[in-house]
Amino acid sequence: MYEDFYGFKELPFNVTPDPRFLYRSASHRDALAYITYGVFQRKGFIAVTGEVGVGKTTVVGAFIDLFQPSLEVAFIFSTKFPFEQLLYLICRDFGLEVEGKNKAQMLLALNDFLIQRNEGNRNSLLIIDEAQNLSPDVLEELRMLSNLETRDRKLLQIMLVGQPELETILNMNEMRQLRQRIPGICRISMLNREDVENYIRYRLEIAGGKNGGAHFTADSFEEIYHYSGGIPRLINVLCDRVLLIGYVANTRVIDGRVVREGMRDLASPESPAGDRRVGPRL
Ligand SMILES: Nc1ncnc2c1ncn2[C@@H]1O[C@H](COP(=O)(O)OP(=O)(O)OP(=O)(O)O)[C@@H](O)[C@H]1O
Ligand SMILES: [Mg+2]
Repeated sequence: MYEDFYGFKELPFNVTPDPRFLYRSASHRDALAYITYGVFQRKGFIAVTGEVGVGKTTVVGAFIDLFQPSLEVAFIFSTKFPFEQLLYLICRDFGLEVEGKNKAQMLLALNDFLIQRNEGNRNSLLIIDEAQNLSPDVLEELRMLSNLETRDRKLLQIMLVGQPELETILNMNEMRQLRQRIPGICRISMLNREDVENYIRYRLEIAGGKNGGAHFTADSFEEIYHYSGGIPRLINVLCDRVLLIGYVANTRVIDGRVVREGMRDLASPESPAGDRRVGPRL
């Protein structure tokens, strides 16, 4: 709605995880490198964790965008299923027709598929997002899946992506067999003060911004950093709001005062973001 006012081609602070907007902070860059290493070295299992909204799904999306041609990917979001249903979804996402098949038949079909893809030199990758919801039983079954291998390589790479609770689960004593197969857990961290500024500038740049665009002042970055704690999703929600306020007030200069107004808006009870504030400085 305010795109024309600032001259943006698209909204700069959408909350969907769009890899085109990926800002490569040191931590996001490390995560991409870790994923690339784990998948192409065929480590079998890799795990990526981080706080809510820190950019896990975005990084995984960017990885897929970069390497899609050499990968066969199944991407599963829903994880509160028993293993058999999960297996069904995995097979379906790999494009297998498994309607009406039982668990053993699905496992056979998956095994055949993976062998075939391996012969065609394609690396098969299963990504399970929101993996903190997986039960220990399902994790154990996934460990068995990662046993599908030829003499010299794993047929399936499994990437677990989840909130910090995932680490707690993986560190449980009963999970040690699985834990030992994961080459270190990659933890994505929040943005620091400098990153927050660069992140905002980067997203504004990708979105375009003719008509002079939007000008964020130094004190606005300070406020946004303290409010968001460096969590990209919170930055996006706040920045989207302050751009709207600037538009309504007919100003393209976003200063600390405008940001504080945005924070007050979001903190009001009817706002869905009201209860997600971090370190507010009103
Ligand atoms: N490095 C980044 N560069 C650009 N945008 C980012 C980055 N990290 C996160 N974002 C943005 O922040 C928002 C939240 O990111 P994302 O959905 O990837 O987080 P998440 O860690 O997967 O969250 P959740 O725990 O809720 O699944 C998205 O709008 C995304 O575009
Ligand atoms: Mg996510």
